[in-house]
Order: sequence, then C-alpha cells, then structure tokens
Amino acid sequence: MDKRKLTKIAAAVAAAGALLLGAMYIAGSSSGSVPPASVDLSQLSPEHKQQLSERGLQVFRAADCAACHSSPTTGAELAGGMAMVTPMGTLYGTNISPSKEHGIGNWSADDLYRAVARGMAPGRKNLYPAMPYASYHDITRADVDALWVWLQQQPAVEVPNRAAEMHFPFSIRPAVALWNALERPASQPAPKAAPAAANEADLLIERGRYLVNTLGHCGECHTPRTASFAMDLKQSLAGNVIEGAYAPDLRPEAMAQRGWNEGDLLRFMRTGLSPQGVMTMGMFPVLEHSSSQMDEADLKAMAAYLMRGDKAGAAAAVPAVAAKPEPLQDVAPQTQVSANGQRVYLGLCAGCHGVDGQGQPHSSLRLDSNTTAMFPTPLNLVRVIREGLTERDLAHGERMQAMPGFAQQLPDQDMADLVNYMRVRWGRQKGDVTPAQVADLIKTAESH
Ligand code: HEC
Ligand code: HEC
Ligand code: HEC
Repeated sequence: MDKRKLTKIAAAVAAAGALLLGAMYIAGSSSGSVPPASVDLSQLSPEHKQQLSERGLQVFRAADCAACHSSPTTGAELAGGMAMVTPMGTLYGTNISPSKEHGIGNWSADDLYRAVARGMAPGRKNLYPAMPYASYHDITRADVDALWVWLQQQPAVEVPNRAAEMHFPFSIRPAVALWNALERPASQPAPKAAPAAANEADLLIERGRYLVNTLGHCGECHTPRTASFAMDLKQSLAGNVIEGAYAPDLRPEAMAQRGWNEGDLLRFMRTGLSPQGVMTMGMFPVLEHSSSQMDEADLKAMAAYLMRGDKAGAAAAVPAVAAKPEPLQDVAPQTQVSANGQRVYLGLCAGCHGVDGQGQPHSSLRLDSNTTAMFPTPLNLVRVIREGLTERDLAHGERMQAMPGFAQQLPDQDMADLVNYMRVRWGRQKGDVTPAQVADLIKTAESH
C-alpha cells in the first residue's frame, strides 16, 4: 500500500475515534431520564414532612453518607472535608449541608437524585466515581425524596469545599464522562418482576439485596475491580484488596465456610463484634455512622440476604444453623506446623488470647473461631499483628482493650511461621506463606 493511502486510512480511523469519543462524552455526561418525584414536595403537610424526614434519616444511615461527608476535624456529619486517597489522586467529601453558599441549599430533589444515582452535579459537573453512584444507581426515587427532605432540615454548615487533587490525566474532570459511558450501569434500572406472588421471605431477601448492593454499597470494597476500576459485577462480593486491606468474600458459601450464621452476622453489624471477629480497618467506619444505627429489621434483612444469597427467595431458604465448615484446602498435618510458629504464639500471644485461642471474655478475642486466619490472603493477619489495635468503643456497649503491635519483635521469618501456625491451626488454610510474601504484604500495607 502506498503512503498516501495509509495516511488516508489513518485519518479516517482518527476521525471515527474522535466521533466515538464525542458520542461517549455526551452519553457519559448525561444523567438520562430522571424518574418523577414520588410526592409533591412543595405541598407536604407537617405530618407527612415529619414521616419523610424520619425515613430520610434511615436512608442516610443505611447509605453511610456520613462516612465520607463528615468533617474529620469537628465530626459535623454534613460538613465535608474527609480525604479519600485513591491510586488516581486524593478527593475530598463535599459539604452536603443546606448551606446555600458551600453546600446543597439551592439544590432541588431532582438535583440530588442526579448526583446520588447518576454522578452528575448541577452544571453538568461529572462527579468522580469515588462518590459511589455506581452502587446507588438503583436507589428509589422515594428514598431520594425522603433524604432530600431530611437534608434540607439540618443546620447549614458554612465550610467551603476542598478541591480534588487528582493526578493527570485523572485531573480532567470531564474525562469521567468517558468512564461513565463504559462503566456506569444503565441509567434505567431493569424493571423488577412484579412482586405479586411475593411472600414475606421473598420481601426480606429483596430488602436485604437493596440494602447491601444499593444503599450499603458494600461491593465498593468487597467486589473485585476490573482493569478500569469498575466493580466486576460478575463476581459481586467475591472479596477484594482495597486501601491496603482484604475485604473478604461475602457470598453465602464462603460465609458459611467461615462459620457465619444470620444471628452472628446481625450481632456483628449491630455491635462490631461476634465470635467470628471484630470490625477493623475499612470495616470499622461502617459501624459508626451506619450499621450500629440501622433498624434491627433492616439488619436482619441484610443478614438474610448475605447468608441465603441472590437466587434465594424463600424456596432456597438455608437452614438456620450454618453448615459445619468443610476444610478449605488440603491441610498439612498438624505435626508439620513449624515449631517456631508455635513458640512465637505461646511467647507473644497466648497470654491474652489463650494457649488454645480460647480468649478471655471482655479483654481479648477468641481466635479459635476468628475468621482472620481463614482468608485466602494473610494480609489482614499480618497487619493486625504488626500494627496492633487501639483501645476503642464499638457500639451498643461493646468495648475493646488495646492489642500492642509486634512489628519490632517479629522479623519476616518469625512472622511467616506465626501466620502459618495460625492458618493451619484455626484457618483450615495451607501453611505455605513465605518470608518474601510477608515482606510484600508489608509493602502493600505501607504503600497505602
Ligand atoms: C465512599 C465515600 C462516599 C459516600 C459513601 C458518599 N459520598 Fe457523596 N461524594 C463523595 C466524594 C468523594 C464526592 C466528591 C466527588 C468529586 O469531587 O467529584 C462526593 C460528592 C457528593 C455530592 C456532590 C456535591 C457537590 O457540591 O458537587 C453530593 C450531593 C453527595 N456526594 C451526596 C451524597 C449522599 C447524599 C450520600 C449518601 C446517600 C453520599 N454522598 C455518599 C464520597 C462519598
Ligand atoms: C495484651 C493482650 C494481647 C496480646 C499480647 C495479643 N493480642 Fe491480639 N487482640 C487483643 C485484643 C484486645 C484484640 C481486639 C482489639 C480491638 O478490636 O480493638 C485483639 C485482636 C486480635 C486479632 C484481630 C481479630 C479480628 O477479628 O480482626 C488477631 C488476629 C489477633 N489479635 C492476633 C494476635 C496475635 C497473633 C498475637 C501475638 C503476636 C496477639 N494477638 C497478641 C489482645 C492481645
Ligand atoms: C470501606 C471498605 C468497606 C466497606 C464499604 C464495607 N466493608 Fe466489610 N470489610 C472491609 C474490610 C477491610 C474487612 C476486613 C476487616 C474486618 O473483618 O473488620 C471487612 C469485613 C467484613 C465482614 C467480616 C467477614 C469475616 O468473615 O470476617 C463482614 C461480614 C462485612 N465486612 C460485611 C460488610 C457489609 C454488609 C457491608 C455493607 C453494608 C460492608 N462490609 C462494607 C471493608 C469494607
């Protein structure tokens, strides 16, 4: 082919590319059609307004808006300023109080719907997907209306927003439109099958699904990501390393294997503590503004959905007691556990956690039913042992004493031996973690 022909083809390809980019930009910066308001918000009776406001607060709690929109200095829940560090740069939660200057005091309920469900702020401003609109996209219009009523009743906080500090090319905000065109879920949620035949158990699962996947946005941490950082919904809730921690597999089979049942899960979400463990790392903030303050009925629905799963419905109801956990792997015989791992455990850990991992009520956790050693990656285990945990209040009266960090006492070889001892003894995992892997995990944790 001669040069001129090639140039022509190249020009045609470039033009087609530009057209495609243009079309994607338009699609990704449109918020699609907005469902009509569920009620006439300008004509509310005082009682109706009160009802909506109470529901709005429930939505605010279940969606954990305060986790990202509260002030890190004053704690004011709507003031903004919380930093979110991502591989693409740092973003700050915004002021969502009714301040007319700094917050959303001039926003209509339609505006709030577009921001929460579609990631579009007024003035065709694309929000970064760190604001979890990819999860919230299925939120009902009635929930947004209730949230709007509640938000507008809160005191205005006069704190200006902090500009995002994204690295190039992510600093080009309109480029988010291209991501949206590819990754944002379809703007009209698929119509749900008519709930005509729905019985109580079906409704419970449906509510749980909505709370977990939509409002609770649990998949933002627990679902693996694709190469373009979208949630890989084909592997919804299958577990993911994020912010230097492993957010475990929450699918029913994996949960049952780690010894969970609905009652313990309800307790964990309400108080932060259960025989399977205590909330740490990225999970702990979920407790404070969200799960500890949710209605018991909603927590039950979440637990039911997580333990019974998507296909569940009533028909596939799972026995109330979890199946006896099967071994996760071919486990090396106990005798092969390195004697050094046991020596380290007895020397540093058994004083608090017991020789057999039985723990002590109110002062240390039991480790014989703890899930941390059961995860496929030992990342969280290594982190807790190195960094320790501070003394802290959980919720509903539960408190935890401090655990010291052992980074100084444990060279990589001792850490690997200790972790292997715990994984084989209580985790039903292979004891094959090497010192080199430990060093890598420490880098993952510290680079965060
Ligand atoms: C995981 C963190 C996170 C959660 C949870 C979250 N947001 Fe956001 N939100 C953000 C971030 C970060 C931004 C700023 C995004 C940007 O700069 O593009 C934002 C932006 C917004 C904006 C746009 C404000 C403006 O002035 O442009 C609104 C409105 C908003 N969020 C409301 C909410 C509401 C309501 C909830 C709960 C239903 C919520 N957010 C939950 C992180 C979060
Ligand atoms: C001084 C007592 C003490 C010692 C010594 C101690 N721990 Fe702990 N450990 C605790 C307490 C208390 C907690 C819960 C702290 C919290 O949640 O704030 C805890 C939490 C844990 C957890 C977290 C479980 C979860 O659910 O996330 C693991 C794993 C653990 N310890 C392992 C160890 C190992 C291994 C050692 C020895 C290297 C050790 N601990 C030494 C008191 C101790
Ligand atoms: C900001 C990230 C993040 C979000 C959002 C999040 N999680 Fe987690 N979750 C984690 C991490 C990290 C862990 C591991 C540490 C721990 O066990 O506390 C975890 C642990 C858990 C565990 C314990 C599992 C086990 O076997 O030990 C459960 C259950 C859980 N999350 C449920 C949820 C549910 C339900 C939601 C949504 C309402 C949610 N998580 C939202 C990060 C998150």
